[in-house]
Amino acid sequence: MKRVVILTGAGISAESGLKTFRDSDGLWEGYNIEEVATPEAWQRNPELVQDFYNQRRKSVLEAEPNAAHYALAALQEKYDVTVITQNIDDLHERAGSTKVVHLHGIITRSQSSIKANLTYPINGWEIKMGETCELGSQLRAHVVWFGEAVPMIEKAAGICSEADLFILVGTSLAVYPAAGLINYVPRDVTKYIIDPNIPTVGNKRIVEMPFKATIGVPMLVDELMA
Ligand code: APR
Repeated sequence: MKRVVILTGAGISAESGLKTFRDSDGLWEGYNIEEVATPEAWQRNPELVQDFYNQRRKSVLEAEPNAAHYALAALQEKYDVTVITQNIDDLHERAGSTKVVHLHGIITRSQSSIKANLTYPINGWEIKMGETCELGSQLRAHVVWFGEAVPMIEKAAGICSEADLFILVGTSLAVYPAAGLINYVPRDVTKYIIDPNIPTVGNKRIVEMPFKATIGVPMLVDELMA
């Protein structure tokens, strides 16, 4: 089976009702990203950060996968598909994708605040202050903050280097190291980008599909399944 690798960003979940990061004046649900998504923010005001991610988790649990998530899952019938996502939602999994790499963590799990690789399932939508990991430290959301390591990046780079087809969906490519993954995809591999506002990719041979995810992804998947 041919290997299809898809790198997704917030744009693929926009039509499920989850806001992107950079489409609204640099504000994310009314917050400056640095106010909530950094280790410094957690040091300064853990309650605020905890509450912020609890609200995000609630929104994720209430959201449903859309036609783009489902189309990528359907692609598995004919291809060996790996989704590498920057998203912290679980909509790819809920749509049926079986190989999903979460570069920036997943909000439906909690994480020790002193040892990043200690993660746990969450009962319900909330992590409460006072809930601790097995080492006794406060639990936080299992998400990668600005300034933190991205432990999955090497695995993701390896997957990209073995792609037979590469697709970008709904990402501004503003955040590294994720934005650099395309550089690991071999030169002669066909690459597509689906985004209503095509970002600068620095690759002249990429096929541009300037559509919303729920239109563009099913369109491309139909073509690949034909
Ligand atoms: N369909 C497809 N793409 C869309 C849609 C849509 N319906 N709506 C918006 N987009 C596109 C925008 O044009 C933009 O290019 O989605 C992209 C969203 O970009 P960002 O908000 O920057 O999100 P993303 O690239 O995922 O951000 C990367 O930044 O804050 C961090 O960790 C966070 O994982 C995130 C990372």
